[in-house]
Amino acid sequence: MTSLTEYMKSRRSALSMTLEEPGPSSAEINTILEIASRVPDHGKLAPWRFVLWTPEARKNMHGKLTDLLKSKPEMEDAAKKQQGTDKLLHAPCVLGVISTAQEHPKIPIWEQHLSTGAVCMNALIAANSLGYEAQWLTAWYVYEHDADEILGLDEGERVAGILHVGSSPVSKNERPRPDIDSLFTIRES
Ligand SMILES: Cc1cc2nc3c(=O)[nH]c(=O)nc-3n(C[C@H](O)[C@H](O)[C@H](O)COP(=O)(O)O)c2cc1C
Repeated sequence: MTSLTEYMKSRRSALSMTLEEPGPSSAEINTILEIASRVPDHGKLAPWRFVLWTPEARKNMHGKLTDLLKSKPEMEDAAKKQQGTDKLLHAPCVLGVISTAQEHPKIPIWEQHLSTGAVCMNALIAANSLGYEAQWLTAWYVYEHDADEILGLDEGERVAGILHVGSSPVSKNERPRPDIDSLFTIRES
């Protein structure tokens, strides 16, 4: 078994709230984005973009998202949603992966989304390869149209992932994994 196989068989995400300094340098972030973008991409459309949300930007977004949540008392689980918002402030590095998928004469939007999901996964692996821990999160505001402007989204764009990257002193336990036998069949005719 190669070390790559061993890594892939045991890799885990860290919890974003355990992430602390050091986070990746600018050069390392570029490496993460380069590896993240090295994914199968039908039509070579690169239907995604990345945004590094600096601590200052995150503070700004956090304030506006908190106000938005307060302005919608009809929303359920507001306290939990606020916790999701608060996660924005924690990790040393937070990257938004934005899907820019749009109608195309040959490539279905579904396939563009699949590529963007692969981008997020590659970014986690890239962060690990540089010695960092990472977690791929979303939150209520990703699904709230009224938050699009706060997030800096253009028309039709969607947040595919909010990637939290940093270092973590907390060891990761295994979590239950899917039973492959129940997911795998061989069709012979
Ligand atoms: C699109 C997407 C969104 C996610 N959003 C959240 C989230 O908001 N909160 C959360 O606790 N986990 C979320 N997760 C799950 C974590 O990223 C991850 O599954 C969990 O930390 C365990 O992952 P691991 O098997 O890589 O260790 C999300 C996963 C995906 C793919």
